Amino acid sequence: MKFLAITKRKRRMGLLSLTIALVVLSLVQCATKHQVTSPPVAVTDKGLKDYYKDYFPIGVAVSGASLHGPDSALIVREFNSVTPENDMKMGPIHPSENVYNWKNADAIVDFAVRHHIKIRGHNLCWHNQEAAWMFKSPNGEPVSKELLLQRLKDHIFAVAGRYKGKIYAWDVVNEAIDDGDDTTQIYRKSNWYNICNGIDFIEAAFRYAHKADPNAKLYYNDYNSEHPVKREKTYKMLKKLIADHVPIDGVGMQAHWKLNDPSPEELRKALDEITSLGLKVQITEMDITIRLPKPPPSPGTMPSVAATTPDPGYTPELEDKQTAQYKMAFDIFRQYKKFITSVTFWNVSDRSSWLDMRGGGLMGGAAAGANTLRMVRKAYPLLFDENRQRKKAYWAVVNF
Ligand code: XIL
Repeated sequence: MKFLAITKRKRRMGLLSLTIALVVLSLVQCATKHQVTSPPVAVTDKGLKDYYKDYFPIGVAVSGASLHGPDSALIVREFNSVTPENDMKMGPIHPSENVYNWKNADAIVDFAVRHHIKIRGHNLCWHNQEAAWMFKSPNGEPVSKELLLQRLKDHIFAVAGRYKGKIYAWDVVNEAIDDGDDTTQIYRKSNWYNICNGIDFIEAAFRYAHKADPNAKLYYNDYNSEHPVKREKTYKMLKKLIADHVPIDGVGMQAHWKLNDPSPEELRKALDEITSLGLKVQITEMDITIRLPKPPPSPGTMPSVAATTPDPGYTPELEDKQTAQYKMAFDIFRQYKKFITSVTFWNVSDRSSWLDMRGGGLMGGAAAGANTLRMVRKAYPLLFDENRQRKKAYWAVVNF
């Protein structure tokens, strides 16, 4: 009897372990299968977006490559808005008249939708990374204003139309204001400006974008809008657009900043001026390089080739200054939460920033033209370090 009972118990135990093993196996299989087909990245702890949930969405510029591996996990954990870094620009997305490259832009949109992340579109009209074919007529002559505006319209209808309802804000026109000190020269003399003989392209771009996606918020986007001269020019342009009933919702302040630039006063002044016109602000491309501009070379000498000068790197002093500048900026952003409708960083971590290829921003950063002397020097401009770990600046931004 005893023997029989033991065998029965053994058999029951055997069945039980078999069942457990099967359950475990199928769970493992499920997990593996899940990973292979669609990998929504596990969200483990609080990120920037959570600290700022009562303020504004926090975004990041992304490329196709950042949608896989460790960058994607960080993006999903920290951010609730993304901007395609290059993939929606005119040249990359529309390289010739009847050719559109949707693949990369679609992948970013799909990733964002799948992870419930908002999308900022960047951008619909710019003089850089342009679709150069647009400026030539079919016979090779410079294009007429009419044909150029027709092409702009077709482009905007195609791109903004494709992502209608998925993009909450578009940078409609990028960097159309002149950088010089002459306050009477408001606009950049780009191909757009020269062919249109004025700013009809700006007004037209906003009207087309509004038609193509009536619910998207429409922004004018530029850098150095906090500097007094450019601020004044920006204000004049905005007043004109508003007087002409152009459907503009706000201004994108790129915020490619330095350790000592802007000052809090300059930042507040710019925010006050823009918002006094009834416009919103988005901080669209934030980074703060640790590199300080070099003093201009003394007369008669060549500018030093900085690549050959020793690089002190990311010293603790520089890190502290950067942390203080980030803290100053976010303290002000929070005070303006009624007007600021998102803050986006330009790139994910210090592992790779667009500024690294531009002397860390030393050579002019956003303002650097194609002819600027290029050299590689790291900018360390973001909230995550080269190992994607949170920096001091991160904690200064979230502890409030
Ligand atoms: C930059 C990208 O980050 C680079 O990868 C690219 O080579 C050049 O453009 N202002 C803008 C952005 O509006 O589109 C720019 O992005 C940075 C400056």
